[in-house]
Amino acid sequence: MPTIYLLNGPNLNLLGKRQPEIYGSETLEDVECLCRDALPEGWDLRALQSNWEGQLIDWTHEARDHAAGIVINPGAFTHTSVAILDALNAYEGPVIEVHISNVHKRESFRHHSYVSSRADGVIAGLGIEGYAAGVRRVVAMEAKK
Ligand code: DQA
Repeated sequence: MPTIYLLNGPNLNLLGKRQPEIYGSETLEDVECLCRDALPEGWDLRALQSNWEGQLIDWTHEARDHAAGIVINPGAFTHTSVAILDALNAYEGPVIEVHISNVHKRESFRHHSYVSSRADGVIAGLGIEGYAAGVRRVVAMEAKK
């Protein structure tokens, strides 16, 4: 069964409680439900979150053999992590980068993303709906193959 890896980075475990004026009141569980609802029949989701860069890298390596696509919100590692970029560059399927907030409307240090140079699509500022759009995009990209 084709599986999409949904990877969330640091502090996103606090979604719903953390700065709700920026990130909204929905939780990571809500994100997972939304993404499962966006999947066509016969597709699966592996939803993972870590505050540790190395763990996100290990899951990205695991995805090489198991994932039909990756939807990733690397959190603050977006702006700092060459290591996550390298791991994504070693993955051959579709990658969609998601940010809940519009990072371009925020502090200038959030305007640069290492991950964007690998991502096939970048979604920012759609709230958690962006994750579902990412999932739909991976499915569409796979259907075109
Ligand atoms: C974020 C934006 C990042 O700048 C921030 O560090 C996050 C969340 C977003 O989803 O809007 O943790 O990726």
